[in-house]
Amino acid sequence: MTNIYLIGFMGAGKTSVGRELADRLGYEFIDMDVMIEDQQQCTISEIFANHGEPHFRKLETELVKYLATKNNLVIGTGGGAILNQDNVDTMKGSGSTILLSVKPETILKRLKGDTTRPLLMVDDKLGKINSILDSRKEKYRASAEVIVQTDDKNVFQIVDEILTKIS
Ligand code: S3P
Repeated sequence: MTNIYLIGFMGAGKTSVGRELADRLGYEFIDMDVMIEDQQQCTISEIFANHGEPHFRKLETELVKYLATKNNLVIGTGGGAILNQDNVDTMKGSGSTILLSVKPETILKRLKGDTTRPLLMVDDKLGKINSILDSRKEKYRASAEVIVQTDDKNVFQIVDEILTKIS
């Protein structure tokens, strides 16, 4: 029951914060997307393109269930992992959920040239970020036991804040 699940939108910093947080706690860091790519031997974009988003969501749910059987992990979840309430229940039942909250403009700045997020491969990236964020905002908040605002903070400040809030 000691895992830490970092939740939040694409570009919220779950991977960079997760690595540092895991270091500080002496935990192992797991990036869910990377683990899915390793298991499937292809990229997230290829999974979306060849098998569709529902298939990706199934893989995501299976992975959450598996990780919940482990201990002392900091887990960078995929931005959409909280869309399935079963995933949220599994996370909360096996650790703490921490939301890295981030403004749309910051997300755009961070993901401007990114080509690895299939949901953001559109011309109007900011419009798409806003619409997905709007549709998920409540879900992110409801899924989080701790919320950390990350705009204008570096990784070390964010990790310090998380450690203070969970201690
Ligand atoms: C997604 C977020 C991505 C990845 C996939 C879908 C989402 O993960 O799981 O592209 O639905 O928000 P990151 O949040 O790590 O970018």
